[in-house]
Amino acid sequence: WPLTARTVDGRLHVGGVALDDLAAACGTALYVVDEADFRHRARSWRASGADRVHYASKAFLCAEMVRWVDSEGLHLDVCSGGELRMAVDTGFDPARIVFHGNNKSVAELEAAVAHGVGVVVVDCLEEIDRLAAAAAAAGRVQDVYVRIAPGVAAETHDYMATGGDDVKFGFPVRGGHAERAVLAVADRPALRLAGVHSHIGSQITATEGLTLAAERVGAFVAALAERHGITVDEIDLGGGAGIPYLPGQPRLEPTEFTAALRAGLDRALPGAPVRLAVEPGRSMIGTAGVTLYRVGAVKDGLRRRFVSVDGGMSDALRPSLYLARYTAWTANRTAEGGPVHAVVVGRHCESGDVVVPDIALPDDIAAGDLLAVPATGAYHHAMASNYNAQPRPAVVAVRDGEARLMVRRETPEDLRRRDAHGEPVQLNTV
Ligand code: LLP
Repeated sequence: WPLTARTVDGRLHVGGVALDDLAAACGTALYVVDEADFRHRARSWRASGADRVHYASKAFLCAEMVRWVDSEGLHLDVCSGGELRMAVDTGFDPARIVFHGNNKSVAELEAAVAHGVGVVVVDCLEEIDRLAAAAAAAGRVQDVYVRIAPGVAAETHDYMATGGDDVKFGFPVRGGHAERAVLAVADRPALRLAGVHSHIGSQITATEGLTLAAERVGAFVAALAERHGITVDEIDLGGGAGIPYLPGQPRLEPTEFTAALRAGLDRALPGAPVRLAVEPGRSMIGTAGVTLYRVGAVKDGLRRRFVSVDGGMSDALRPSLYLARYTAWTANRTAEGGPVHAVVVGRHCESGDVVVPDIALPDDIAAGDLLAVPATGAYHHAMASNYNAQPRPAVVAVRDGEARLMVRRETPEDLRRRDAHGEPVQLNTV
């Protein structure tokens, strides 16, 4: 992975482009996206048995990506006013957008209504009031999903588990919170309950939790019909399908993911004509991405070899934030000798600035070599920062031997543009 990765005469190619040629043209660190890989995954999701597939923008978004998502006939999940802007400014049909977030501002909700966003997922009682007011003021009826927390802890890193009992997202089913939220929506003439939503977490490879969550959401929907005569015909069960980060790790395939959800829904709502929506992010773009780094220094430490590259935690936060594991390939030649126990480290001022924490690298890796780190398409560019005033890398798409720039490299001027040099702030009495 990615799908089109090939080694020709020791040089790694993706999308028919030699990665060392690409590095020479665009510089490093560099995010590379295999367009064919993304399109293949998008089509697998569309054929997975879900009725609606939203691409979760938070994994990676830019204008060109919005166009790819559109051209594959996907819907779009956005979770901020910024993502919403990027989508609508690029011409994405707002009716095919679902808007998430656990604390959307009044301005964001007003923007959603003004743009005609298809569905707003409400996540707190305040938001129900704010959205109803915004929709009423605009003379519109806004479709909403109510996000519920089914009380299922996904088997993943704690930071990525979102469906348990003690999370900030959604209304817990237990204790009647979710039911009260649905009734609050039903009570607002400017809102229409279009469905319910739940997302239990991310990078999930075991299906049991997904089935259990679907069953609980289904049971909740059944109870709404029984107790209040409220029918729900669309259930959005979020994203979270896991991908391989290391060789041999499993991928939760789109068909397995949706089958697990359907199994849970069928248990709770046998024969009900409920429409299933899903929101994969990582699973669609994760393995399409490879990050290229130039090795700048190789140092033998007392216990392992430190291979320093020209990026790090500012472009690849996941290893430091989640202790996520990756691998790396030599992209410019067939390296020989070794293997030597090594760690690929970044150029930031922290010991925790690690790109690949534990890897056996060929003995002759040296300054000037090019390393390619696979499975970096999701939550890498999206979570990149300017730590140590590091400009963020460019993103380049490759396909059929051609490379096209998706996002240009940040420049030191970009970073300095925000400097306000002590300009006075006008204070108004509150
Ligand atoms: N839908 C909702 C409501 C979500 O909160 C998320 C992810 C998704 C869909 C997409 O999940 P995916 O299919 O990509 O797993 N920064 C973390 C991941 C955080 C995911 C947050 N929500 C990481 O780097 O692993």
